Amino acid sequence: MTTLGTPLSPSATRVMLLGSGELGKEVLIALQRLGVETLAVDRYENAPGQQVAHHARTITMSDPAQLKALIEAEKPQLVVPEIEAIATPMLQELEDAGVVRVIPTARAARLTMDREGIRRLAAETLGVPTSPYQFCDSLAELQAAIDGGIGYPCIVKPVMSSSGKGQSKIDGPADVQKAWDYAMAGGRVSHGRVIVEGFIDFDYEITLLTVRAPDAAGVVQTQFCEPIGHVQVSGDYVESWQPHPMAPAALQKAQQIARAVTADLGGQGLFGVELFVKGDQVWFSEVSPRPHDTGMVTMATQWQNEFELHARAILGLPVDTTLKSPGASAVIYGGVDATGIAFDGVAEALAVPGVDLRLFGKPESFVKRRMGVALAHAADIDTARRNAKEAASRVKPRKA
Ligand SMILES: Nc1ncnc2c1ncn2[C@@H]1O[C@H](COP(=O)(O)OP(=O)(O)OP(=O)(O)O)[C@@H](O)[C@H]1O
Ligand SMILES: [Mg+2]
Repeated sequence: MTTLGTPLSPSATRVMLLGSGELGKEVLIALQRLGVETLAVDRYENAPGQQVAHHARTITMSDPAQLKALIEAEKPQLVVPEIEAIATPMLQELEDAGVVRVIPTARAARLTMDREGIRRLAAETLGVPTSPYQFCDSLAELQAAIDGGIGYPCIVKPVMSSSGKGQSKIDGPADVQKAWDYAMAGGRVSHGRVIVEGFIDFDYEITLLTVRAPDAAGVVQTQFCEPIGHVQVSGDYVESWQPHPMAPAALQKAQQIARAVTADLGGQGLFGVELFVKGDQVWFSEVSPRPHDTGMVTMATQWQNEFELHARAILGLPVDTTLKSPGASAVIYGGVDATGIAFDGVAEALAVPGVDLRLFGKPESFVKRRMGVALAHAADIDTARRNAKEAASRVKPRKA
């Protein structure tokens, strides 16, 4: 039996979010609805999630000493990573010492913060199909990997990076040096390791939201949401929709892969499994052991959105992954470099049928920073995509 407490009292169930952006904000709201006491941590003040949590703390989450001091001082029952750039070995140490439980597990957080950890686990330990790949520490090694079998076209990514940072496609020998230099400039930490992957000429790519949550008997079961289709531009998601239609054989393979990878990572919570599909062939790309940006569409499409599913699963509560309606999401970028920006056109956007909006409240805007998202439900995904994009285009961020 799961017992929940009263926030701000000695009985409180206390949860700490490490990373409090737009995804963390929605997890925090879902937790608050269950009377959980929430603590939002980020690297800057007034991050979206800090604006809705009971408590806000600002630290450098990649600094093990700062992370340890905060967790020991606050003593949350659960620590929920929302981003990759965290001192995960310290989380492992604290979890091993029984100080805290990390969602879904400290090992999952550690393996997925580095492309090498999760890729080797999936391809080499679990035998899941992936693009051909090699890890390289120099331009010479990169060239040798390409010449030795990866071939052209291929994709180079820093082993530690997200949202497409430092990532580029190589179409021929002339692009290799440029891709290497770009990867060196775009990685999260300044060690020069990259993955080079053979380019998969997929028909479409999906995110398969996969939930590990206990059933009434306390046994963890795996459940799947309907597949989410999405469009990526420069490694960053711009549009997503659900359900993405799939041939039964491809869906079955996708679920098998997602089940195998998430079962190995273990623990409880929601995972975003990224897969490439061509006909009945399915390749594993990567996995987030937490809600996924393309899954924001579920705020318009599911009875329990991905944030509510995550909140329930981590608290040991049953979940319902069923679809309510087809729908879509479209990203609203800042378009300007400025702090405290204004948004014109909100009323016009909300006049589009079936549309809702999230404006994240980020204190600072960049041209390519995600500042909001338009959500749409409709009878079919084409209409939903059109309406979400129309609504997003009507919101006009500007300098205040
Ligand atoms: N081997 C590949 N073949 C074809 N396309 C690829 C390959 N690897 C990546 N891509 C494309 O680039 C996108 C981003 O890649 P990936 O997910 O590895 O990067 P990321 O930086 O982790 O992005 P995010 O953090 O947004 O998920 C993929 O969704 C896909 O569209
Ligand atoms: Mg990705």
